[in-house]
Amino acid sequence: MKKLSSIILVITAFVCNFCFAQKVFTENDIQIIPKPASLKISEGVFEFSGNTKLVITDKSQKESVTAFVSKFGKAVGLKLQITAKAPKSNYVQFVVNTSFENEAYELKASKNNVIITAKSSAGFMYALETLRQLLPVAIESKTVIANTAWIIPAIEIKDKPRFEQRGLMLDLSRHFFGKEYILKTIDRLAMHKMNVLRLHMVDDQGWRMEIKKYPKLTEVGAWRVDQEDKAWNARAVNDPNQKGTYGGFLTQKELKEIVAYAAIKNVEIIPEIEMPAHVSAAIAAYPFLSCVEKPIAVPSGGVWPITDIFCAGKESTFEFLENVIDEVIAVFPSKYIHIGGDEATKDHWKTCPYCQKRIQAEGLKDVNELQSYFVKRIEKYINSKGKKMIGWDEILEGGLAPEATVMSWRGTKGGIEAAEQKHDVIMTPESHCYFNFYQGPQNDEPTAFNAFLPLHTVYEFDPIADAMSPEVAKHILGGHANLWAEFINTDALSEYMLFPRLAAFSETLWSTKESRNWDDFSSRLGALFQRYDYLGINYAKSAYLIVASSKVDIASKKVSISLQNEFPKPDIRYVLGDQEITQNAVKYQDAIQIDKTTVIKASLFKDNQPIGKTFTDTITFHKASGSAIQFKTPFNENYKGDGDLSLVNIIRGTKNFHDGQWQAWLNSDMEAVIDLGIKQDIQHVILGSLESQGSGIYFPTAVTVYVSDDGINYKETAKTERAFAPNINTELKDFKVNFDTKKTRFVKVIASNLGKAPSGGGTWLFVDEIVVN
Ligand code: ACM
Ligand code: ZN
Repeated sequence: MKKLSSIILVITAFVCNFCFAQKVFTENDIQIIPKPASLKISEGVFEFSGNTKLVITDKSQKESVTAFVSKFGKAVGLKLQITAKAPKSNYVQFVVNTSFENEAYELKASKNNVIITAKSSAGFMYALETLRQLLPVAIESKTVIANTAWIIPAIEIKDKPRFEQRGLMLDLSRHFFGKEYILKTIDRLAMHKMNVLRLHMVDDQGWRMEIKKYPKLTEVGAWRVDQEDKAWNARAVNDPNQKGTYGGFLTQKELKEIVAYAAIKNVEIIPEIEMPAHVSAAIAAYPFLSCVEKPIAVPSGGVWPITDIFCAGKESTFEFLENVIDEVIAVFPSKYIHIGGDEATKDHWKTCPYCQKRIQAEGLKDVNELQSYFVKRIEKYINSKGKKMIGWDEILEGGLAPEATVMSWRGTKGGIEAAEQKHDVIMTPESHCYFNFYQGPQNDEPTAFNAFLPLHTVYEFDPIADAMSPEVAKHILGGHANLWAEFINTDALSEYMLFPRLAAFSETLWSTKESRNWDDFSSRLGALFQRYDYLGINYAKSAYLIVASSKVDIASKKVSISLQNEFPKPDIRYVLGDQEITQNAVKYQDAIQIDKTTVIKASLFKDNQPIGKTFTDTITFHKASGSAIQFKTPFNENYKGDGDLSLVNIIRGTKNFHDGQWQAWLNSDMEAVIDLGIKQDIQHVILGSLESQGSGIYFPTAVTVYVSDDGINYKETAKTERAFAPNINTELKDFKVNFDTKKTRFVKVIASNLGKAPSGGGTWLFVDEIVVN
């Protein structure tokens, strides 16, 4: 890693106390993320020592400076003194300039001193976050690091954000995350100069905020029957009388602590209280809130379509919501309350006498206008308390509430439409902002929502489209990333999905459009990863993974494998056979041609060292490769693999079952007959399969092999069976059927479909290859 090595060289060089002044920093040594608006390096350095004084001139500087002293003390072992008056030299001075914008700052470092100028505590905090990234990465250490020169270059940085809204949403409902993790996340947001944390505290699978007037919201609504051993979308409907044991909630005291801590870090906590749908947990607690008033349980997993909905006809619903909002406002000083509004199936409203009466009385056209009535009425209440309402882009349907800020998630279209209607907009399109999607090849990643958002795509995010007029663009407040937690059940996994994508995201919102450059960003990432290591952040190294794509010429039985990585000009090296990856591995240039069974291993290299996980694939040529294959029941139209010969094409499928290598059968067995052309000795059949129970895909319960000389009379040869077992993950499995050597021309393979899903619904059987050898 070019830039990283130069930093390491710098640090080793400065162990010598006399030679540091000779170091000439260049822009490549400055690895700050997000990139500052402007920076200019001069000759020389400022060195921190035990005598360095921190000169504060205003109370707006106190909190951040104290935090810096503590951090410095831990890593350096020196207690910096805070004073009110500048000495002659060797000091960092904090100066208020009221003409600055709120979050802007300037940092000027010379041999003698560092002068930090800002208007507010936010600006001083961000200046110190920048100072932290100018210092060696070891500043992140929680124990003293010896033999380090604590120097920064002489530099002038002028910095401010491009967008005012730079946010992240944590979903506390689908899985519960407690106060400690939220506080840690606030620190990390501040480190990335992000300034909003939205807490998604209400959804079907759990109500997470204590509401004193309605205690059952947390006594009942915060707990669900524990089905954590099953895939999210394969969980059974619960009995309302069964007590829930999985869950949790935040008390108002805890939430106030979170809000107070966030304020120090310039992070606004926006509460997210979903309505009128995504509220099964609330209805489980108080069935009177629904149209049908039927007792329901808090669901333990996926619910689709979302038909549980607050009744829009009964006054008691609005009384409840106003009381809840009163308590929310008392805890959260944020200017905004997010009321959701997404994905409401309004079937209950169509038949509910109260809802129908409301439609009549208000002269509404349909249930869409009833949702609009609902949202407008809530907005009026929120506005009456001096707050603003945010809703998902569905709130455009049936007429937008007059003051609403729209959060555009189904692409940017809704956001653009709202901005054209002069509404404020926060962009959060799934395509760039949904951090619950996979960030690397699925075979190497923890099970996630089945969509793809790699680091470089996050980096391409821009809340403002080129086509927007300045009039429209001025309503775009910024962007938020969303971490939906259906598949995220631990703090470590949450960190994995957030980092480093949050770093890329922060730069899209903070840095100038002109300064954004993927090559440059990726070269700064290595230093950030070292900081993450010190901080104990479980970040993903997915961007280092190799992405392989294979092609086959089945007539000549030649496989061609291309290797890629998302970084620019990647140094990829590979080996074939049973060798290990070392720096002597072959440098990848063009697609690798393979014509016999082999293992291929590949890795990304930096500075002659393999980094990230080694990619491994086995290419198996077999006796059925390219043979004629026929099916008793045709494969499903939506899963045709790469054509008729897909199951004998040598190329294997991945955990991404849309990768074009899978053939599938719905509610039926797969029965295939392969004609080997001539009689051959065979000893086993391997059937490659995939399971993703949340998507209704199940491993076969049995694979049976038959042989025949004439293609008419078949004899059962062997069978491999496997009983159903709940499986939370997406998994690949080869079913191997061994037998004594048989000389045969025709091979029939039957894979038995599970037939009946434990949680209801159809059962898919997926096959990627039938290996005959
Ligand atoms: C959403 O993802 N339903 C806002
Ligand atoms: Zn109703």
